[in-house]
Amino acid sequence: MNAGKHERARTEEFARVSEIQLKDVSVAFATTGGTPGSSEARGHVESSEARGSVGSSDVEGIVGNSGGSAKSGIRFVLQEVDLEVRRGDWIAIIGRNGSGKSTLGRVMAGLLPVSRGVCERGDGRVQLVFQNPDAQIVGETVWEDVCFGLENLAVPTEEMPARAEAALSKVGLLEKKDADVSTLSGGQKQLLAVAGCLAMQAEVLIFDEATSMLDPESRASLLRVAADLHLTGRTVVWITQWMDEVVRAERVAALETGRVVFEGTPEQFFYGRDGEDSPSDRLHFAPPYAVQVARALEQTGVALRTRPLLPEQVGDAL
Ligand SMILES: Nc1ncnc2c1ncn2[C@@H]1O[C@H](COP(=O)(O)OP(=O)(O)OP(=O)(O)O)[C@@H](O)[C@H]1O
Ligand SMILES: [Mg+2]
Repeated sequence: MNAGKHERARTEEFARVSEIQLKDVSVAFATTGGTPGSSEARGHVESSEARGSVGSSDVEGIVGNSGGSAKSGIRFVLQEVDLEVRRGDWIAIIGRNGSGKSTLGRVMAGLLPVSRGVCERGDGRVQLVFQNPDAQIVGETVWEDVCFGLENLAVPTEEMPARAEAALSKVGLLEKKDADVSTLSGGQKQLLAVAGCLAMQAEVLIFDEATSMLDPESRASLLRVAADLHLTGRTVVWITQWMDEVVRAERVAALETGRVVFEGTPEQFFYGRDGEDSPSDRLHFAPPYAVQVARALEQTGVALRTRPLLPEQVGDAL
């Protein structure tokens, strides 16, 4: 724990370092012809792919254009997004189905080029953990799977065991290293995906609704692992629709039809800034239980000293 705190303090020194910066980023898809321009494969794409601004016209910059006459079928799924992820951040990205969360995650990870604007990334490796636990498993055994990414990166063979072992141990899967991946639970598969990212020395982990297919216990354990990685200096981008996961974040960005419609702290999101209406109400996201309780108390005339986000903070607010 002390080591964690120490690491965290070190991270705060670097808190001004930008890991990912999106400036006026738009992504357009061709809605006619062509297959989606996304790649759900695990792996890192060199930053150049996510950098430069692609093309000056809508047509040049669209993704997934099969070459057909798609001009009338262009749809912007991200629009003029300005967003910075700094080293050591934990930022939650929220939004309804189809609002552009995964597209944003893929742009941030360098898996998808932008149509307009620029996505700049620092030196830190960015890796994605996807929603579907089965979508990212490539090895037959746990060990093989975690080594796969290292082989892809051409890590020298003699370095692999130490890196794989440290990564598996970090997520609590070391004793399962010889297990067949098909015997793992969904939650363990997600942890294995995280181990893969760690073995590849990812600095930034993007979780794209990574808990949404998990039972409550597995969900909690993935969150715990992410929290621990954050505490020891990793940057976390947490894409979710669960409001009780949002309260764990330091910052929240809400997307609506491809635009960032809110950016601020979870407290500002659920309670509003300086007397404004709560953005979560405005955007129709039901606040988590602790916030509902606090608001109900306020409505009955109870003056709260703080604005609780977690159940354990409600007592302190009274
Ligand atoms: N490769 C693609 N080609 C064409 N349209 C796409 C492609 N990928 C996403 N879209 C469209 O872009 C919009 C945003 O999709 P995206 O997957 O980013 O949303 P999301 O917020 O992650 O949704 P969900 O909550 O369902 O995961 C959707 O309308 C989707 O249909
Ligand atoms: Mg998605």
